[in-house]
Amino acid sequence: MRVDFLVEPGGKLSGTLRVPGDKSISHRSIMLGAIATGDTHVSGFLEGEDALATISIFRALGVRIDGPEGGEVLVHGVGLRGLKAPASVLDCGNSGTSMRLISGLLAGQDFDCELTGDESLRRRPMRRVAEPLALMGAHIETSDGRPPLRIHGNPRLRAIDYTMPVASAQVKSALLLAGLYAQGETRISEISLTRDHTERMLQAFGRKLRREGATVSLSGGPLRGTRIEVPADISSSAFFMVGAAIAPGSDITLTDVGVNPTRTGAIEILRLMGADIELQNTRTFGGEPVADVRVRYAPLNGIAIPRALVPLAIDEFPALFIAAANARGETLLAGAEELRVKESDRIQVMAEGLEVLGVRAEPLADGMRIHGCRGGTESAHAYSGGVVDSRGDHRIAMAFSIAALRAGSAIHVRDCANVATSFPGFTELARRGGLAIGPAPSD
Ligand code: S3P
Repeated sequence: MRVDFLVEPGGKLSGTLRVPGDKSISHRSIMLGAIATGDTHVSGFLEGEDALATISIFRALGVRIDGPEGGEVLVHGVGLRGLKAPASVLDCGNSGTSMRLISGLLAGQDFDCELTGDESLRRRPMRRVAEPLALMGAHIETSDGRPPLRIHGNPRLRAIDYTMPVASAQVKSALLLAGLYAQGETRISEISLTRDHTERMLQAFGRKLRREGATVSLSGGPLRGTRIEVPADISSSAFFMVGAAIAPGSDITLTDVGVNPTRTGAIEILRLMGADIELQNTRTFGGEPVADVRVRYAPLNGIAIPRALVPLAIDEFPALFIAAANARGETLLAGAEELRVKESDRIQVMAEGLEVLGVRAEPLADGMRIHGCRGGTESAHAYSGGVVDSRGDHRIAMAFSIAALRAGSAIHVRDCANVATSFPGFTELARRGGLAIGPAPSD
């Protein structure tokens, strides 16, 4: 069903909100729980379409999973060698994380299977996992480098020593999962640091890993079921952080946010721009740091975004581009060519939407130059409203919704159904925070 949002201009964000559970951690809790020995109890699980696709896939692979109900899931682990050949094709929906990580896990099985996804996922590059998994001894057929993937598993994988050509936590995680099934020690080196939830969670499941500089090593062997408490998703929180940072009078607190240092690039970038962000009550949920994040309005300035922060904020650029549009002066992003192969080409689609609003945004091969619109008075709007097409990309739909806080007239955001992949209940929570968002008639 087509879903469009209509967001009235102006307003501010305030109050205390908890966004749904972290998507990356929710996926991994099911995957590791499924191949562990014994039960895994997950709380705070994200009941969004992507993570639900992962649950369906493991059910099809013979794993009994109770829930989710109110964020609680019980995974009855079948052990490393307990998965069963599925009766049909496994559908990952919109979820690149499901497809890439599960490929690594299926590479070590003694059966074959096929993974597919929706139109957006079927356009995304998969050689980045197929090639190193082939080096380990699995055979993965792609359709010219894209899904569907036909995975011919090999229960006797070989460990590899591999330097990843792209900064990708999904590739790293796929290889770590395959490494559980390999003879010897799998060593993976990164060109820049990416999110380390898989490494942390493998340790919570009782496996030892070694991290030396940019290299992580792991030996094959079993996992032990455990309890996982999923923090609130910093990527979902980022829309509210940016909203509060751009709308005068805002003061919002987001609770239980996962603040793993491999995910906090957006906080660092916003602070470099002048945002007032305070982390309170920092503690840990299992191996993952969490905090309550308070954001108060403060005027932003354009910056050159440090390249080392790009992988640490990779999912937050749609929201950060809206922050840049509200800053004084120019913001330059480079070294972010990965944005072109996300759920949409996020450089192109964001540039087109910003142009509709009258923001000067120049797409670059590996980033974007944005000329911010912050004028002299705080009450003035930064740009116009208009009809913006998200092209079915959940994060772009939410970024342009938040942009309405500083628009001169309403923003109509088209093609928003996929918001449910990562942030079920977004419009309700955003309304509670102060955003005048509702459904728009779609044609
Ligand atoms: C993810 C890794 C990132 C990110 C995605 C989730 C993960 O993808 O964009 O939303 O859970 O490992 P890449 O590994 O392709 O950068």
